[in-house]
Amino acid sequence: MATSVTTVEGKAPAKAQPVVQVEAPSRREFLYYIWGASIALLLGQAGAGLVWFALPRFRAGEFGGVFSIPADDVPAPGDAPLSVPSGRFWISNVPDQGIQVLYGVCTHLGCLPKWVPTNGRFECPCHGSKFELDGKYIEGPAPVSLDRFRSTVIFTDGSSEEMNAAGDPIPLNGRTVASVAVNTGARVKRGSKN
Ligand code: FES
Repeated sequence: MATSVTTVEGKAPAKAQPVVQVEAPSRREFLYYIWGASIALLLGQAGAGLVWFALPRFRAGEFGGVFSIPADDVPAPGDAPLSVPSGRFWISNVPDQGIQVLYGVCTHLGCLPKWVPTNGRFECPCHGSKFELDGKYIEGPAPVSLDRFRSTVIFTDGSSEEMNAAGDPIPLNGRTVASVAVNTGARVKRGSKN
């Protein structure tokens, strides 16, 4: 004769739950996890570094970045050079040579030479070094001529010409200037009095 089990309240007893056993990772698995996490961290850091280097560090128009100077501001050949204090440079238009962009800091001890129209040259107020319109050393304690910034002249015919590796003035060859792009993050050292 079948018997049935009932509780005091008359309900069937709860079924026993299966026991799930969680195995701890082995030592080898644990080392794999650590190794994988380390590689992921390294890759993440390398990726962040690449993005950081790829982004421009200076905005256009701030020192260290690129300045775009419109044609109206670019001096005519032989005229007084244009000073751009925020970029710490001068733009000279040297007759028979072309556009030259000069770093406006004296190569002696770092003062700021001024253009002196009556003498037609740059003169440093600190110790009297003097430089020509194209930045070439004339006299004084400065050891070398003025440095230059890498620049590109854009012409109205759509062409453009970059400063060469020697940092020579950019010749106009009868073309009309539309604008001048000056990279104040790329200084070309003169390295001599020439
Ligand atoms: S800093 Fe210009 S001559 Fe000395």
